[in-house]
Amino acid sequence: MAEAWAVILAAGLGTRMRSERPKVLHPVGGRPMIQKVQSVLREAGFDQQVVVVGHRGEEVAQAAQAVPGVTVRIAHQPQQRGTADAVAHGLQALASLAEGQVLVAYGDTPLLRAGTVAELARTHRRTGALCTLLTARLTDPTGYGRILRDQAGRCIGVVEEPDATPEQRAINEINAGLYLFDLAGLRQVLPQLSPANRQQEFYLTDAVASLAARGLVATVPVADPEEILGVNDRIQLARAEKILRRRILEYWMAEGVTVVDPDTTFVGEEVRLGQDTVLLPFTFLEGQTTLGRGCRIGPNARIIGSRLGDGVEVQMAVLVEAHVGDRCQIGPFAYLRPGARLAERVKVGDFVEIKNSSIGAGSKVPHLSYVGDATVGAGVNLGAGTITCNYDGRRKHPTTIGDGAFIGSHTSLVAPVTVGDGAYVAAGSVITKNVPPDALAIARGRQRNVERWAARRRAEDGEKGSRER
Ligand code: UD1
Ligand code: CA
Repeated sequence: MAEAWAVILAAGLGTRMRSERPKVLHPVGGRPMIQKVQSVLREAGFDQQVVVVGHRGEEVAQAAQAVPGVTVRIAHQPQQRGTADAVAHGLQALASLAEGQVLVAYGDTPLLRAGTVAELARTHRRTGALCTLLTARLTDPTGYGRILRDQAGRCIGVVEEPDATPEQRAINEINAGLYLFDLAGLRQVLPQLSPANRQQEFYLTDAVASLAARGLVATVPVADPEEILGVNDRIQLARAEKILRRRILEYWMAEGVTVVDPDTTFVGEEVRLGQDTVLLPFTFLEGQTTLGRGCRIGPNARIIGSRLGDGVEVQMAVLVEAHVGDRCQIGPFAYLRPGARLAERVKVGDFVEIKNSSIGAGSKVPHLSYVGDATVGAGVNLGAGTITCNYDGRRKHPTTIGDGAFIGSHTSLVAPVTVGDGAYVAAGSVITKNVPPDALAIARGRQRNVERWAARRRAEDGEKGSRER
């Protein structure tokens, strides 16, 4: 097979989005649409891609070049004069390519599946057509180009909706916007197209009619019409998001994950989940998050770029770039920030924030604590209200707490400071000096009891009261 390149059109203004941001950079399933399209084409074997950019092209180019595993060439379309003009600019980046086929895709169709693209390529090769395009039958074809066929059922062209007659508008077979072209054939017909249509654009769809006059145009019907949704406005964006989200959840359900309410559960594409994990409503798993087996997440959990072991429970908590060992319990109302590393069986309770700190096996931070830049050993108990004072207004300083230490409630650990293995810190202490292993540190005002003080006061009040009467 000759070299196979894909040309992805992403220069359009995306006027209907009414956005400052180029349409193809709007995220679907947590990633810019353009990157979704690129990954799908790569999966189908089209890992050499020309991306045609125009409107805020630098940003689009940057996003396109960030996709792993693809060779990307950027082509600039200076004016958005239509999809055929965009392809013509794209082909300039392939000037050295004498023959073969070229796939053309639109950057705004993020729901395509790799299998569909591969099927299109197979049909194209089998039939030897000049052009093979993906079609769909829709109950509501509004907005799409309609497929025109002759008496014998052969595809003879595509008519755009604004140019269609009422009879043509009634056709419910539409152009999905994915094509394989014979490169030489496409190069011949592109310069012959004219913008004499309602939108005054050079339509790529007109190339289809020209090629049909010269040879075979084959069509491949898409199995699942959902796949071809083109995102032109924010209503379609939300629809695409929902479809993608459901696909991801259905994949994980098939893999043995319980999703109690798919309507309120959001799992990103790069997330990995272990068997028998249960996702309760309002769970958001984002970025490169990995969960082990038998976890119970939610209700109300947001976990971003984190790694959790087996049997972890998280409820009403936010985790960002955290590592959590097996059988830890997090929340309710906990916040693990970047660099929080919990060994196994750690308990992090309510109103606890942990940042850039490691917590040893079986340790507990049950309530109302801030732990930052700390190394906490195993079997440690941090009492309610324990605070590591890690910041002096200029720099951050470390706190170290040895295995088996017990930190009494409402303790401030003024870093840099170390509490040795097995040491105790009395409640209410402000610790500014290191505590040796197995010692008790008390650092607070000493209590003095004034015997009978209250009773005397009441007695005085009594006398005064009787004088006033
Ligand atoms: C297009 C098809 C239509 C098809 C539909 C499928 C044409 C003329 N029409 O319509 O038959 O049913 O897609 O979703 O092709 N673009 C450029 N440069 C331009 C114009 C567009 O790069 O000058 C890019 C856009 O950024 C977009 C893609 O091409 O990613 C498609 O353009 P769009 O305006 O969305 O075409 P549709 O009207 O949806
Ligand atoms: Ca479109």
